Amino acid sequence: MMVTSRVPGFYKLSPEKRLELVASAAQLNDEEKQVLTGEQRFPLRIADAMIENVVGIMPIPLGIATNFKINGIDRLIPMATEEPSVVAAASNAARMSYELGGFFTSLSGSIMRGQIQVVELPDPYGAMARLYENKQAILDRCNAKDPTLVSLGGGAVDVEVHVMEQAKRPMLVLHLLVDTRDAMGANAVNTMAEAVAPFIEELTAGRVVLRIISNLADRRLVRARAVFSREQLGGDKIVENILLAYELAECDPYRAATHNKGIMNGISAVVLATGNDTRAVEAGAHAYAAKSGRYRSLTRWERNREGNLVGTIELPMAVGIVGGATKSHPTARLALKLMNIQSAAELAGSIAAVGLAQNLAALRALADEGIQKGHMALHARNLAIMAGANEEQIELVVQQAIREGDVRYDRIRELTQEWQRRHADGKGNRAQG
Ligand code: MEV
Repeated sequence: MMVTSRVPGFYKLSPEKRLELVASAAQLNDEEKQVLTGEQRFPLRIADAMIENVVGIMPIPLGIATNFKINGIDRLIPMATEEPSVVAAASNAARMSYELGGFFTSLSGSIMRGQIQVVELPDPYGAMARLYENKQAILDRCNAKDPTLVSLGGGAVDVEVHVMEQAKRPMLVLHLLVDTRDAMGANAVNTMAEAVAPFIEELTAGRVVLRIISNLADRRLVRARAVFSREQLGGDKIVENILLAYELAECDPYRAATHNKGIMNGISAVVLATGNDTRAVEAGAHAYAAKSGRYRSLTRWERNREGNLVGTIELPMAVGIVGGATKSHPTARLALKLMNIQSAAELAGSIAAVGLAQNLAALRALADEGIQKGHMALHARNLAIMAGANEEQIELVVQQAIREGDVRYDRIRELTQEWQRRHADGKGNRAQG
């Protein structure tokens, strides 16, 4: 399927027209379109099977970010978010890299860690040695629990033992390294960790307490890189300000938290749209940002010889395309179809690209006019809709409110009512004439 992600003026179309465009690109049938628009209601019985005590569903807007070229392939990016400006910002940033090749990504592997905590150890270092001596027997017991994963080329592949020297009492943690392939892997890893625990007690002569996945997925690191055009960014001064903003994030955790929050605006929106675990990815991202002992930026920014801005991002990305909500949630399935994703590695790379673009967009706005102007237009739009403006009146009201610098509900309501009165008068006059 050949798709272009460059759809100039996409944002100006109605939601129905936009849907037509993406549906034809991704070859969605009528039923699939109705799932996306919500005309085909999300079945309560699926919701009830997903979590407990279900009483309803919570709709979140799903937007499409345009202009993404990732490893040479144009992809439409579905983003589920309640925050205005995020989708527009990602699309704008991606446009500034498109002509320079777009995004290039890589994944270090698909290995997750399961942790088995062992306490009450008579000889922690002796226990560590015994665990390593019995590595193959440990792995075999784990793999017996998931023959499907093994048949797909995955499974438990290695162990690491960490004696917790900082703990007050003798304690060690066995890490099971499990290749989870196209699955996020929490279920596979947790099942293995629980199953092998009695054998670990036998080998260590200790007592097992925790048996659970680690969300610091540092053997599943995704990297993305892109070059952003200096001209499209607005010139050397803005590039310089972006580099200064990045420098602050590198040395000040107060700024790094906000800087990384902006990155997660993009990442979590795609993770959510594809039915993956937003909290797992977020926990991994923030823990990784602090891996040096200080909380830092997940991205790096440099200027190349041509004066263009080179951005890179590196973070754990535990996402899958099989299992859990990725398959059971009808919209999540369609999100993967819209993106044309065939593997968890492709999904991870695409998500990292969005995170990088999102960061660039925020830094670009902050380095220049600030973010409020863009936010205000959308905010004003929402207020105009609340005030009852129709399609035609929304734009007029928004423009006027922004010109006046007064984006408050009472003023927007006044403006909407004025336009509605004028419209009614116009109609009345025509009727009389
Ligand atoms: C707002 O949701 C995100 C930003 O604050 C990110 C940043 O400051 O880099 C704009």
